[in-house]
Amino acid sequence: MTTIGFIGTGHITAAMAAGLCGAPQAPDKIDKIVVSPRNAETAAALAKRYEQVTVAADNQAVVDGSDWVVLAVRPQDAREVIAALKFKSDQRVLSLIAPVDDEWIDGAVKPGRLAARIFVMPPVELRIGPTMFFPRDAEVEALLKPLGTAIPVKNRREFLALWSLTALLAPYYGFIAKSAEWAAANGASAETATAFATATFHALAAIAEQPGAEPPAALATHAQTPGGLNEQVMKELATRGWFQALAPALDRILRRLEGNS
Ligand SMILES: NC(=O)c1ccc[n+]([C@@H]2O[C@H](COP(=O)([O-])OP(=O)(O)OC[C@H]3O[C@@H](n4cnc5c(N)ncnc54)[C@H](OP(=O)(O)O)[C@@H]3O)[C@@H](O)[C@H]2O)c1
Repeated sequence: MTTIGFIGTGHITAAMAAGLCGAPQAPDKIDKIVVSPRNAETAAALAKRYEQVTVAADNQAVVDGSDWVVLAVRPQDAREVIAALKFKSDQRVLSLIAPVDDEWIDGAVKPGRLAARIFVMPPVELRIGPTMFFPRDAEVEALLKPLGTAIPVKNRREFLALWSLTALLAPYYGFIAKSAEWAAANGASAETATAFATATFHALAAIAEQPGAEPPAALATHAQTPGGLNEQVMKELATRGWFQALAPALDRILRRLEGNS
């Protein structure tokens, strides 16, 4: 039986705790989750909702009572918060803090061990979507697996390149919203248009994620019957610079994540 503790009880901790508590097969039989008292409202809500969750008296009590410790405070708070903690020998620590100028964390958690830098997104609450971690570590992978698609990455560079893609959340939702708005302006009810658009894009992503599915570029090619509707829109969007805008925008996100904004 394992206890996982969270330092910083914000959005991501709430999502991870919910996902872990709801997982049909909790990783390595996690029987207890301990969260730090701040943010008090979120901590209390988690403890009320899930019997596995308890709120510790303070951050040190989280560390003292946990086998795994997840660092989930904001980057600007991290140094001060972590420096104040005493980790146990060989304690396994996971850092959610963006891996930029964060080499100091390895030393700060000693004699504990920074097992991995990890990334998760809010949909882990539903146990879907990507989680990623480096370095590759079987125990970390087992811990993250019930929360979605656990993706080991090679190094910091790969981690940040993939993290950059999460800047596409708003454009993605915007694309769905604008598509539905257009349909609503052209005869559909707004509700039906939203239901249709969200179900369509969910289904397309689900198919592309199936084991053995063709890569997205091939799916895009095959969806474009010569002279067909998809080919027509694809050509028009390409002509208007739709796809050309993506790489430079992501270049700038990566530079920003690397601390070179
Ligand atoms: N959101 C994402 O999708 C995402 C994804 C990957 C990684 N991350 C990283 O993961 C970390 C957490 O993200 P988040 O979105 O969960 O942030 P968040 O919602 O701002 O949560 C951070 C929490 O830390 C608490 N806190 C502040 N000072 C503290 C202290 N001294 N001791 C204990 N707790 C303290 C804050 O409490 P108050 O609310 O009272 O200030 C807040 O509840 C960040 O480093 C973020 O960059 C986030």
